[in-house]
Amino acid sequence: MRNFVIVFAATALMATLVGYFIAKVALAPARNALLFQKRFIGDIAHELRTPIAIIKTNSEVSLMDTSLDPKVQRVLHSNIDELNRASEIINNLLTFSNWTRPEQMNFSSIDLGVVADAAIRSLRELAKKKRVEIIVYKKTPRMIYANSTAIGQIATNIIKNAISYTPARGKATVLIEPDYQGHILFVVQDTGMGIERKDLPHIFEPFFRAERSRNRQHGSSGLGLAIVSELVKIHHGKIAVKSAPNHGTTVTVSFPYYKNGDAAYSAKREQTEHPDEISAGFVA
Ligand SMILES: Nc1ncnc2c1ncn2[C@@H]1O[C@H](COP(=O)(O)OP(=O)(O)OP(=O)(O)O)[C@@H](O)[C@H]1O
Ligand SMILES: [Mg+2]
Repeated sequence: MRNFVIVFAATALMATLVGYFIAKVALAPARNALLFQKRFIGDIAHELRTPIAIIKTNSEVSLMDTSLDPKVQRVLHSNIDELNRASEIINNLLTFSNWTRPEQMNFSSIDLGVVADAAIRSLRELAKKKRVEIIVYKKTPRMIYANSTAIGQIATNIIKNAISYTPARGKATVLIEPDYQGHILFVVQDTGMGIERKDLPHIFEPFFRAERSRNRQHGSSGLGLAIVSELVKIHHGKIAVKSAPNHGTTVTVSFPYYKNGDAAYSAKREQTEHPDEISAGFVA
């Protein structure tokens, strides 16, 4: 009987090891293809950055000549707008190809509320232009262990989507709260156009843009959520998207809560130490 148990355990162990190596070998081409794709994208983006910066500077210098025909001035201004959009896309491409090496990122204790405020500040003009109201609710605790630039990029991309895909007089609500199970939630809810069921599985794929949003969102590259999902993974977080066409979208990112280096510290305990502070602000 004992021999049988030993043989059985050894066979199971061998089967697991063989399975692991087969899966590793089978997945290697896909992994390499993704790495190659990222490197290729990064190289192209890098090459495009300099000529775009030069054209932009030349246009800005030309605009200093106040005697220029107003028609030419308008064309130059429009060129600069387009070049700014191109730079934003290139920056996204560079981020997408670079930020796959967590060992090169600095991590520290971060207040998610502070990062969200900064992201909202940077999007205030866009929200004003689109006449979308941003409402913020921040509860405590909300500390996470993270790279602050990466978290800023996560917050900016998600809030920017909420503004971009919501028609005028709509709302984007940003909520930061603990789930009392050791996580801090970053929730962005909008009252916008929503995402069709068939598109939902694809929104994290690089360059994917849903049909209905494509004609409205001029200059988007379909990279925002691909970057977000990479960065959330690096932070051991999770992201979920709920949406219904014409009824809006809710994006929820959950990060492990950070208490003095102990990510497993119960958010519930902190909660009893510092009662909830809820602050709401109208930004646009
Ligand atoms: N809040 C939202 N409401 C409706 N559709 C959304 C929302 N967020 C994302 N989408 C859909 O998912 C697609 C992918 O989003 P993603 O942020 O990755 O790219 P993008 O916004 O098109 O471009 P980029 O963010 O690179 O400028 C969008 O094109 C849009 O179709
Ligand atoms: Mg986007």
